[in-house]
Amino acid sequence: MQRATRFIDACYCKPTDCTPVWLMRQAGRYQASYQRIRKKFSFAELCRNPELAAQITVNAVNEFEVDAAIIFSDILVPVQAMGAPVEFSEQGPVLNPPVRNIFDVQALEDIDSREKTPFVAEAIRLAKKALGGQVPLIGFAGGPITLAAYLVEGGHSQNFVELKKLLFSDPKTGHVLLGKLSNVISQHLEAQIEAGCDAIQLFESWGGVLGPDDFREFALPYHKQIFSELAECKVPRIFFGTSISTLLEQIQQTGADVIGVDWRVALDEARRRLGPKTAIQGNLDPCCLFMDEESLKNRIQNMLIQAGTEPGYIFNLGHGVLPSTPPENVRFLVETVHKLSSGKIRA
Ligand code: CP3
Repeated sequence: MQRATRFIDACYCKPTDCTPVWLMRQAGRYQASYQRIRKKFSFAELCRNPELAAQITVNAVNEFEVDAAIIFSDILVPVQAMGAPVEFSEQGPVLNPPVRNIFDVQALEDIDSREKTPFVAEAIRLAKKALGGQVPLIGFAGGPITLAAYLVEGGHSQNFVELKKLLFSDPKTGHVLLGKLSNVISQHLEAQIEAGCDAIQLFESWGGVLGPDDFREFALPYHKQIFSELAECKVPRIFFGTSISTLLEQIQQTGADVIGVDWRVALDEARRRLGPKTAIQGNLDPCCLFMDEESLKNRIQNMLIQAGTEPGYIFNLGHGVLPSTPPENVRFLVETVHKLSSGKIRA
């Protein structure tokens, strides 16, 4: 049962039979099985329905034979439970009115996930049962900067002007917001581990929009707090961010077991800078899944060479699977990673 252990072993930099692979957003709109379910239910309904969320989680594992499952939910689920008006539109999430001052921050409720979002824990229990120990299950939360970005911008943003305006012109309010979010994030992750998750990932997708000094002031203390609170839980903790090549050493100070990087940093450079005790996850550009098989295979081969033979590498994309991705290319990717890396024991 090597498949059951390879992802967790790699998180702890232990040798594995081949390179484990899973994909961010491996469950979603590029799958026909997801589209069939999605025709009948809105995305928000799916997140609150434990049976369907568990089924969607497991479908991705069965269809693509990845080495880990990730629970189907969204980083904005706890934010919505705090009282923020979250709508999932065709163009992405909309939060209206946005959070802009201390009064808006104070209006956000300090919640207990176990009470407010019990459907997440229930989905985890059902998914664990259905997976039957075949592969581990990853729980997740958004990072404080990423969640603050959605709250303050009112949705997705190109340049994050409103978030930075708040942090730089009223840092006191910024810190109150980030502290409040971090408490909710910690206990949301703890609740998922309690329900049975075998690893957790912090999606600090937009942390890389901060320069190194601002990251040190507004992000790092909260990441350290979240990860140190989870240290007792004894499951691997993954930090994921995009555009974080200037921040790798700071992120290592969070105590993360695994750091997920995007394609903007080379894997050999990331490994060199982080050393043998921090595992690396990533970093194929999701657009490579539009290539022909031969070109995709070459990319995968190059990544495996760059990642080296030291243990502690998990194959993933640098960001989520795009909705127009051909599913057969995802299947080819997983197969190819396993094939090209097996035999070359990462020890
Ligand atoms: O398979 C998985 O990875 C698990 C499920 C998952 C979703 N969202 C499902 C989803 C996870 C881990 C997330 C995390 C998430 N959500 C992030 C962090 C990762 C990243 O992409 O940076 C962010 C920023 C969000 C917020 C969010 N939710 C956005 C920006 C969007 C719209 C854009 C898009 O890609 O669809 C969503 C909606 C969403 N979350 C969908 C899914 C499957 C699509 C909803 C639909 O069916 O219409």
